[in-house]
Amino acid sequence: MTFGIDDLPVRDELRGKSPYGAPQLDVPVRLNTNENPYPLPEALVERITERVREAARDLNRYPDRDAVELRAGLARYLTDTSGHPLDVSNVWAANGSNEVIQQLLQTFGGPGRTAIGFEPSYSMHGLIARGTGTGWISGPRHEDFTIDVPAAARAIAEHRPDVVFVTTPNNPTGTAVPAETVLALYEAAQAAKPSMVVVDEAYIEFSHGASLLPLLDGRPNLVVSRTMSKAFGAAGLRLGYLAAHPAVVDAVQLVRLPYHLSAVTQATALAALEHTDTLLKYVEQLKTERDRLVAELRAVGYEVTESDANFVQFGRFADSHETWRKILDRGVLVRDNGVPGWLRVTAGTPEENDAFLDAVREVKKEQNT
Ligand SMILES: Cc1ncc(COP(=O)(O)O)c(C=O)c1O
Repeated sequence: MTFGIDDLPVRDELRGKSPYGAPQLDVPVRLNTNENPYPLPEALVERITERVREAARDLNRYPDRDAVELRAGLARYLTDTSGHPLDVSNVWAANGSNEVIQQLLQTFGGPGRTAIGFEPSYSMHGLIARGTGTGWISGPRHEDFTIDVPAAARAIAEHRPDVVFVTTPNNPTGTAVPAETVLALYEAAQAAKPSMVVVDEAYIEFSHGASLLPLLDGRPNLVVSRTMSKAFGAAGLRLGYLAAHPAVVDAVQLVRLPYHLSAVTQATALAALEHTDTLLKYVEQLKTERDRLVAELRAVGYEVTESDANFVQFGRFADSHETWRKILDRGVLVRDNGVPGWLRVTAGTPEENDAFLDAVREVKKEQNT
């Protein structure tokens, strides 16, 4: 027997658990991790190279610990795209929105505290809760994957969680959450504790509707988290950020590691912000492709959940894993998120989406015979 995890004195709540792990398989068409399929435009690659070269000259020094220039740029982007005025004091950045969420749970969750999410939703909320010693509560959704507001408010009143997660558009279902729902859950959370409400807007740029950033006005316990991994096409950069009352930004400083955001990351993200207009044009193309996937999957005879994101949930399958495998056998990797009866496909380039649609048409024919 070889020495393994179970032989180490790891924390009890980590024993027997599996790490987050979307398969990274080498297949021709990979539509499983909600990445943007378009490589960064060459002009931006050039600008990144310039900015990183400049940053490299100072790598003997620690980076700007407060990432002030970057946070100001992100605040400008949020203000310009939402019409809701924000400045550097409202914005905090970290290595991916996963790290933002981790810092929020380290600050507002932790041992003896709990967080709630309405599932199925982004599995990392629960996993990061576990990693930070925060208890996890799985709240309900309707059959159609919208949030059941009275049931969610009852769960908040009963469990009095310290952190409430609302993902809009939701992953893996693509479902947008209306402002009234977030307001109702915020009221319920304030009456119960009060607790922090974190609105995860990782995919908001792909939505038919507007960002919920204006709800921050007068609600100091509300946080909106964002990422450059999806709309900005920069998943490899690892840059996430949040917008909130300045007191929230001050609070997360208590747990952030010093100099957590490297000078190279800051330089690259600043270059990407200079090319926002070009990157958002790709978002428009992806929205068109997302809507095409919805229409064509329905035409094939699948059930499709309404999507406001860059991915689409489709079903229903007696055995979704078997269908996942049949699609993979045809060279296309989609995602089995473990939602019984459903699979999720990320909107890729038109050619990738055609390959996916050809594959599912074949699978459908085979399953009908
Ligand atoms: C809802 C949601 N939030 C956050 C993230 C994490 O993104 P990041 O790459 O910024 O860590 C993802 C990634 O898939 C996501 O689906």
